[in-house]
Amino acid sequence: MIPVILILDQDVKITEALCPLFADEDIRLRRADSLKQALEIVHREIVVTIVLGDVIPPPDIPSALMRLKSAAPYAVKILLVHSNDLARSVSALNSGEIFRLIVRPWEPEMLRQTIKDALYRHEVVLALKEADEATLRSLGQAIELKDPYTKGHCDRVAGFALLIGKALHLTPEQLTDIRHGSWLHDCGKIGVPENILNFQGELDHPDFEVLKMHPTWGAEVARQANLQTGVINAILHHHERYDGHGYPAGLKGDDIPLEARIVTVADVYDAITTRRPYREQVYSLSEAMDIISSMAGTFLDPDLVRIFLARINQPGLGPPPTEPAPESPLWTH
Ligand SMILES: [Fe+2]
Repeated sequence: MIPVILILDQDVKITEALCPLFADEDIRLRRADSLKQALEIVHREIVVTIVLGDVIPPPDIPSALMRLKSAAPYAVKILLVHSNDLARSVSALNSGEIFRLIVRPWEPEMLRQTIKDALYRHEVVLALKEADEATLRSLGQAIELKDPYTKGHCDRVAGFALLIGKALHLTPEQLTDIRHGSWLHDCGKIGVPENILNFQGELDHPDFEVLKMHPTWGAEVARQANLQTGVINAILHHHERYDGHGYPAGLKGDDIPLEARIVTVADVYDAITTRRPYREQVYSLSEAMDIISSMAGTFLDPDLVRIFLARINQPGLGPPPTEPAPESPLWTH
């Protein structure tokens, strides 16, 4: 059966605009005038993406989202709103069911790209459900394609994180969770527009708030795919800080799951020893070790830092030598 993009809007313009944009795709567009009609289509066909327009009044959107979810658990939803509807759309966003918000008037290409991202997210969830080692790793690598600065990042993070995990004599199951969590820790970046992900320099506040959603979105994908709790924890909490000033939950100290604390040390180390869009230079091994040391107890778990530093200074594990330290953010995502 051909997958369907369902447009829930009384205005035919969206469907008309999307038809030529998806003419070459193996996908079908359907439009519904009401939630009842949408549910009939969802029950009848394989709906992979739903664009929610004006049909449902904002107060009713959360309950409509739940009904659509129970009928099509993996369909990815995009909310189309008027700029003066933003406040009323907050409850829909807070439901965690909305992949992306588009404010009218929409640009055809932007709408097409957003739907493409939604289709990709749908594929990711289904692939994760069937996941074997090779699939999980290749999904992590696919995320790197959105962010060319992070090429090879998930493999390196896994290597550094396992170094710590093995030193802690974790069980094989925990090590597997850490490896998978390392590969997938940034998988929520599927939901972050590329202009934000690859922005040269420091992001302004609203864009940074979008970027900060990536652990939550990634964990939701992993949860939908029934991945292990340790993997979900690593994804959800890899931007928490040991002192409680991180995101998304502001967890502190040992309240941050161990898998996440380990992946964070590995993620930060790889970030400061490779080039990022917000920072041109990378640090030498000794500079990187000094920086990681200085982050112990604030950003990072001091015990894990000590363990990591004792093992990283071994032949073949350090970063390539490079230029002196700049005045730029060390690690934002
Ligand atoms: Fe991240």
